[in-house]
Amino acid sequence: AADSGTAPDGTRFTAVQPNTDDAVRVPEGYEQEVVIRWGDPVLPDAPGFDIGGQTAAAQEKQFGFNNDFAALLPVEGVPHTYLLVVNHEYTTEPFMFADYDSEDPTEEQVRIGLAGHGLSVVQVRGKAGSGVLTPEFGRYNRRITGTTEFLVTGPAAGSALLRTSTDPTGTRVAGTLNNCSGGITPWGTVLSGEENFDQYFANAELVTDPVAAERLARYGVEGGATERKWERFERRFDLAVEPNEVNRFGWVVEIDPWDPESVPVKHTALGRFKHEAATIHVTGDGTVVAYSGDDERFDYMYKFVSSRRMQQGGSRTAMRHNMTLLDAGTLYVARLSADRTDSGDRTDNGEFAGTGEWIPLLRSNEDGSAESFVDGMSAEEVAVFTRLAGDRVGATKMDRPEDFEPNPITGKVYVALTNNTERGVDGAPPADPANPRVNNKNGQVLEIDDDHAGTSFTWNLLLVCGDPDEADTYFGGFDKSRVSPISCPDNLAFDPHGNLWISTDGNALGSNDGLFSVVLDGPRRGETKQFLTVPIGAETCGPVVQDGRVVVCVQHPGETDDASWASPASHWPDGGDAKPRPSVVAVWKSDGGRIGM
Ligand code: FEO
Ligand code: CA
Ligand code: CA
Ligand code: CA
Repeated sequence: AADSGTAPDGTRFTAVQPNTDDAVRVPEGYEQEVVIRWGDPVLPDAPGFDIGGQTAAAQEKQFGFNNDFAALLPVEGVPHTYLLVVNHEYTTEPFMFADYDSEDPTEEQVRIGLAGHGLSVVQVRGKAGSGVLTPEFGRYNRRITGTTEFLVTGPAAGSALLRTSTDPTGTRVAGTLNNCSGGITPWGTVLSGEENFDQYFANAELVTDPVAAERLARYGVEGGATERKWERFERRFDLAVEPNEVNRFGWVVEIDPWDPESVPVKHTALGRFKHEAATIHVTGDGTVVAYSGDDERFDYMYKFVSSRRMQQGGSRTAMRHNMTLLDAGTLYVARLSADRTDSGDRTDNGEFAGTGEWIPLLRSNEDGSAESFVDGMSAEEVAVFTRLAGDRVGATKMDRPEDFEPNPITGKVYVALTNNTERGVDGAPPADPANPRVNNKNGQVLEIDDDHAGTSFTWNLLLVCGDPDEADTYFGGFDKSRVSPISCPDNLAFDPHGNLWISTDGNALGSNDGLFSVVLDGPRRGETKQFLTVPIGAETCGPVVQDGRVVVCVQHPGETDDASWASPASHWPDGGDAKPRPSVVAVWKSDGGRIGM
């Protein structure tokens, strides 16, 4: 039976049960529809999707592959109309092309791959009483790809570390890659994290300078050919040819979706690492705080505090000012301790909790100069090799920090720590209070009470994920017999009531990934309920809970270890014998009511 009036607003729905169906499953009384699929036209002159007749020229005008982050931005003055802004994290060529030879890709396949990366901006129209969203050819529609020109700003702009033979200025980069999650800024732009950029760069073993080699190793850049072999046709991806091109990826990028001609920006003041995303909290005086996790086992959590203050109002002048907010300020990395706990890793009431401090790494000044706080590293080096700076100051090694999300109602900040199967294994760092399990397959969710512009915080674990029947799980103190199992939290979002929504990637409990609501306050704190599940092989991304609908990105459906082009593990969303296609899905209540009410 559905929860009655006792469940908080926004969470009154009947939980979807774990399953391995090749479908999106939503609660009883809800409806769903695909909004847009890989290959659907974004620009008016785009051809329709033809899986056997793909070209790079078509893909540059069509919706890209592997949708991850989604933002739904209302178009002012046009009822029920939004810009849907979506990241395309990566391409999976063996699932895209019938004739793909991973040892010998064609140049056209490589160019399709580059065009399938980046972001899409698509106008979508809703209708009253329904959550359906229909793509339109609006004037803001745009594709950003692996070749779109970006401007570099902040302390590493123009640095010798960023100069290449095609860009001796070190300020103009072709493209953005591996855009995982992101955030919406209060001034109307979208932030996107360049995550696993290491995989695009070949021949690291030919870099013989020991300092450069150590830096590449710290960022996971491996020797030999890359999996996609782009370096054969785009020499900038060959480190032996362009040793600095790799330093031009791994940034937070900012897109102004309201100006399709605008040059998007890479903000180097926020540091370079495998940015899952960046999300914003604005303090009472207009100071902007950007939080970002480095998604790697044993890597760090960061925040940036602006020196400039946000200007209110939607004028172009205010927008131009606000797009400089992430260029000047201080970058910090987190160090956590457990000195609030009474014994072992839990307080007397069973919580995992402690304190923490933000250690300054880099100050970027408004005049373009910058200062390092790290002994033995210049400001440019801290900006470009931020992981090494975190190492030097003794930052806390976390279990893969994914999405950060500040609660817009309480200001508390949440971090998904997705998993870390190497924790405590074979000499790797042991469990610690915030990362309390060895061989951590299921992840945890950290809650931070932050002095946003300051340097201290307290923290506790909201969830220690997994099968609630297992003793090592924790659901905010809530009765574990009444929660949904949850594993590998990745993306976080808030609904209008202040409930946390978590999407998962890599469910280690044997069923498909999904989306969950979590109550944060009151007697039902920790109550975790599954709202939807995604098809076989997919991870759940996006998520947006807004205006009577839930929007999720279904990323990499059908990508299982034993799947192939000839025998896909999924036929979603088109069904029958169709190949799977990454797609965006909208879910709404059949009666037109608000979600979870
Ligand atoms: Fe692309 Fe950290 O997930
Ligand atoms: Ca992610
Ligand atoms: Ca988020
Ligand atoms: Ca992930």
